[in-house]
Formats: sequence, structure tokens, C-alpha cells
Amino acid sequence: MTGDNPSIRRLGDWSADRLADLADDHDTPLYVLDLDRARENYRRMARAFPDAEVHYAAKANTARPVLRALADEGAGVECASAGELRRAIDAGVPGERVQYTAVNPPARDLDRAVEVAGDHPRVTVTAGAADTVERLRERGYDGRLCVRVNPGVGAGHHEKVATGADAKFGVPYDDAASLVESAREDFEVVGIHAHAGSGISGEDLSAHRELVSRMGDLARDLGSRAVDLEFVDIGGGFGVPYRPDEDPLDLDAVAAATREALGEVDATLFVEPGRYLVADAGVLLTRVNTVKEAPGATVVGVGAGMTDLARPAIYDAHHEIRNLTGEREGRPSREVTVAGPVCESSDTFGEHRLSAPERADLLAVGNAGAYGYEMASQYNSRPRPASVVLDGDSARVARRRETMADVTAVEDSE
Ligand code: LLP
Repeated sequence: MTGDNPSIRRLGDWSADRLADLADDHDTPLYVLDLDRARENYRRMARAFPDAEVHYAAKANTARPVLRALADEGAGVECASAGELRRAIDAGVPGERVQYTAVNPPARDLDRAVEVAGDHPRVTVTAGAADTVERLRERGYDGRLCVRVNPGVGAGHHEKVATGADAKFGVPYDDAASLVESAREDFEVVGIHAHAGSGISGEDLSAHRELVSRMGDLARDLGSRAVDLEFVDIGGGFGVPYRPDEDPLDLDAVAAATREALGEVDATLFVEPGRYLVADAGVLLTRVNTVKEAPGATVVGVGAGMTDLARPAIYDAHHEIRNLTGEREGRPSREVTVAGPVCESSDTFGEHRLSAPERADLLAVGNAGAYGYEMASQYNSRPRPASVVLDGDSARVARRRETMADVTAVEDSE
């Protein structure tokens, strides 16, 4: 799709001047998230799946303005924990569009979820194990229940995010129908759910097709047992290109494959994109503090590290980097290794070709809107960075920069 809603915003499309102003105003490391871009991504997804409901997987980015902006567009919200559930409700997302997808939920989470569902009875609780159903029963919950199924097929950009075939997630496929039938006695069973994994690309569509087809079969099986489902939720996992030579996902082709694989079902289709809606809406800004010529490599030390953006360290994920200062000065590009300040060798953003970096240059790290701030930590006693949200021409601090006092706030000072 082209025109005013291109299917990908590349790192090079961001205005260097605007990013430089933001870095000057708010210091670095700094997350920047453009709400207009998240809205565009949502609209493209909603257009590709016109009769489906789009539920944003909040775990990708839970900043309140993001939840609000997407909910205002019509999105529902999928919550992975009681904390996310709380955020969705606090952001004003209507209960009927909120889903709590519990994976081995701690008792405290389940207690809170039942409480929230008591106040907002249209919230749906999704259980991924017979034990979770039993624990909900013990708590007197009798509201809307969805059963998460293990579809037996997984897909993803890394083995660590391919959930579909992992026994941890969902009720074994062959047990799902009987669990739904027995759950009907105590709950309002409204849907079935599955998620193949994260980062489905064009090549992985066969796994997606297989998952959807199994979910269609299960829905029809349940229909034949007189179970009226409101929805069939096929999860998220819609990939985005992290490298400049990768093409964006052909959403219309994914939607067509989904429809065909699902077949006729008397229920609404739900999709749960996280990354797709926010990844290219965000960048991480950081400054160069060290340029070191070492045998075999030029190491460019930057202020942001794996504590700010963990994906390269955890998944060997590639994130494009631009030297905004070097570009402006027209410096020739060179091959460098970009590394963070954490005392650990996995704290690197890998090799990049950048306009020759110099100390104090401003770098932008691309596709940082999804699973960036959310996975940030205080390892090495590093305060987490600030996040600024852009809305049209305005910029607002969604999350202030943490201080050392924040880092030690929960500790006994003796
Ligand atoms: N629905 C469920 C039940 C999920 O578990 C997930 C992601 C999603 C939807 C959204 O998936 P997405 O559309 O964002 O791919 N930290 C990893 C990603 C882990 C995602 C886990 N579940 C990363 O940075 O790549």
C-alpha cells in the first residue's frame, strides 16, 4: 500500500532535525514514539481485515498514550498480565474490548483479574491450561472465558519467540473441545485463541495457514457440539522488516490466506498484532561517547545499552542505526561496531555502516517502538530512559527519565 499510508516507515524517513531537537530538549537515551504512525499501522491492519476485530497486544508498548490512541481508533487490547490489564482499564479502554491472556498466572494476578472482571464484566479472561480454568472456578469467576489452544505449529523470527508449538502455551489441541464443553457449565465460554509466535514473515505463511485452519476446524467441531462462539482469535505475530533490504509483509495476502484457511465459521475473527502496530513508530536516540580504534574493529561506544533495548542481546535482533550528526556533515560512511555501556559482552548493537561517528554524535536506532522500553531493565543500576510521544507537531513526555533515587526506591536503605 502506498500514498499517505506506506506499509513501512524506514529509519531514513524520520526527520533528522526533529529528532535532534528532541534529543536536545530531553537528553538521551530517549525513546521517541510517533502516535500518527501507530494509527496508520492500525488503519492498514483494520482495512486488511475489514470484518475482524483488531486487539493490540499491549506487551509491545504499554505507554498510556499509545493504548489511548489505538483504542480511540477502535482497537481492543490484549493483556499478558494483571499489570497490563490495569493499564488498559486505566487508559479507558472499554471492558468489552479488553482481553486478559493468562499464562501460568500467579495467584496475585488471577485475584486481580477476577476483581477487574467483577467491575468490568465484559472483560474476557483467556485460560491456557485446565488448571487455570479450575483456579478461576475456585475464585468464583463465572464471566467471559476464552480457551487458549496449543495449535501445534509455531513460527517466529527467533526460536525464543515461536510459541505455537511450545507446550508452555495453551491447552493441547486434542483436549480443547472437551475442556470448552466442561467449562460451559460454570462460565460464559465466548472464544478460542491461539498464537503461532512473533515475527511471521512472508516465508512463514504456511505455519500461519496451518494454525488458522486448525482453529477453523476446532470452531466447527465446537459448533457441532452446540457451542456458540463469539470469536476465534488467531493471535498476532505479523512481522515487520528490521533490515533495509527486507520487504514489508503483504498484509492483504496474509488476510486472504487467513480467510481461506479459516473457512466458514459462525464467529468473529480476532487478530492480535503487537509489533506491527508500533515497531516502526519508534526510534531510540543515543549519543556517541567513545570512538576506539582497536585491532580488527572500530568500536563506537554509546549511552544506550541492552538495559534500554534488549532485543539485540537476547535475540541477536538487528536494528538499523543512523548517525544523524555525521550525515548532516556529509561524512563518508564506515564499518563500525556499536556497543553499549553495560559491562557484558552481549551489550552490543552489532556491526553497522555509519557516517563516520565522532564523540557526541547523535545516533538513531530504528524499529524501537515494539519491545524496546517494555523490556528495559535497571541492570548495572542504570535508570531507565525517558520516552517521548509525538502527536502531530506536539511532543509529550510519556515516561520521564528515571533517576538513581528511582533505582533504589524499593530498597532498605540501612
Ligand atoms: N498475542 C499473544 C498471545 C502473544 O503472546 C503475543 C506476543 C502477541 C499477541 C503479539 O505478537 P506480535 O504481533 O508483537 O509479534 N519480546 C519479543 C516478542 C515476544 C512476543 C511474545 N508474545 C521480541 O522483542 O521480539
